Amino acid sequence: MKLRQSILVAMLLTTSTAAVAAVTKSPWGKTAEGIPVYLYTLSSADLTVRITTYGARIVSIDAPGRDGKKADVVLGYPDAAQYESDASTYFGAIVGRYGNRIAKGAFRIDGKTYQIPPNNNGNALHGGPAGFSTKVWTAKEIPHGVEMTLVSPDGDMGFPGELTLHVRYTVESGSLHIVYSATTTQPTVINVTNHAYFNLAGDGKGTILPTLLMIDADHYTPVDAGLIPTGELAPVAGTPFDFRKPTAIGARIDTPNEQLKIAGGYDHNFVLNNAGPGLHLAAKAVDPASGRSLTVTTTEPGVQFYSGNFLDGTKTGKFGGKYAIHAGFCLETQHFPDSPNHPKFPSTLLKPGETLHSETVFTFGVEP
Ligand code: GAL
Repeated sequence: MKLRQSILVAMLLTTSTAAVAAVTKSPWGKTAEGIPVYLYTLSSADLTVRITTYGARIVSIDAPGRDGKKADVVLGYPDAAQYESDASTYFGAIVGRYGNRIAKGAFRIDGKTYQIPPNNNGNALHGGPAGFSTKVWTAKEIPHGVEMTLVSPDGDMGFPGELTLHVRYTVESGSLHIVYSATTTQPTVINVTNHAYFNLAGDGKGTILPTLLMIDADHYTPVDAGLIPTGELAPVAGTPFDFRKPTAIGARIDTPNEQLKIAGGYDHNFVLNNAGPGLHLAAKAVDPASGRSLTVTTTEPGVQFYSGNFLDGTKTGKFGGKYAIHAGFCLETQHFPDSPNHPKFPSTLLKPGETLHSETVFTFGVEP
């Protein structure tokens, strides 16, 4: 009896130790202005995740494959300086105050027009030229992870109201949880997401074209030539945008399709089927060779599936080589692009007295 009890206690201890993540902090260089940057390492038995205070970015995620061997499954750089000198990829970053595009950078709240400096073909992308991805966030250790905080002043990149944003990254077993909360001093718009690029075969291990992808969406939002939604929610049925059954990303990416042509591949917001107040399935990706899988659940109504179309072989990654087109894919859980100019889309307005709550979970596993 005693032996059984002690075995049980030992089993419980092992299970809880496996689930608990250890957190360490180390200096990680300085920005060009001399602001110190830190790197937090969150490790459970299954996952090791590194997060930097520069842009609150995910720098690496080590996850095991079918053979038990871990590989780093996100794209990125070896140091803060290289993140700072790259204004186009947003590797691993928290993007905001408004992730994705706002047409011409302009929108109205209560009859007043606000203007964000355009930084992408005349439109505002990921919060404008000095968005949240370019800021050094303050950080504090929390159980299983780290909480990053950014105070975006009133008028920051043209957005109204002082916005206080907390992003909590925690690791439990094979899951990375990202929890966002935000408050504002004036009505504003907010759409924050994480911009990690995944390659489940491993960073630098070829393209993501063989990756099998499932997206739980019957509709997506087609775009115009500037990648701004037309406002239509188009059915995916009968198009290369139908990922309701797992399909290789590369299977239809080159088929003649106006939307694929505009974006040079996939770069579209999918309207999630089960959007509601709690966590719901967004997508699942599997690398058939290594067996590594990634399941994405979220409280957000949409997910931007981006197939790394603008990667052009000029950026050298932490693996030591160049990132070619389709070296990684993003699944950016979010409200729809340009929502402030589309009253029929779910609202991105945040008012004083309200607290924005958003949550996304990346769960890594192995397929037999
Ligand atoms: C994505 C966006 C793409 C591209 C990319 C960054 O979120 O949808 O069009 O801008 O970020 O290179």
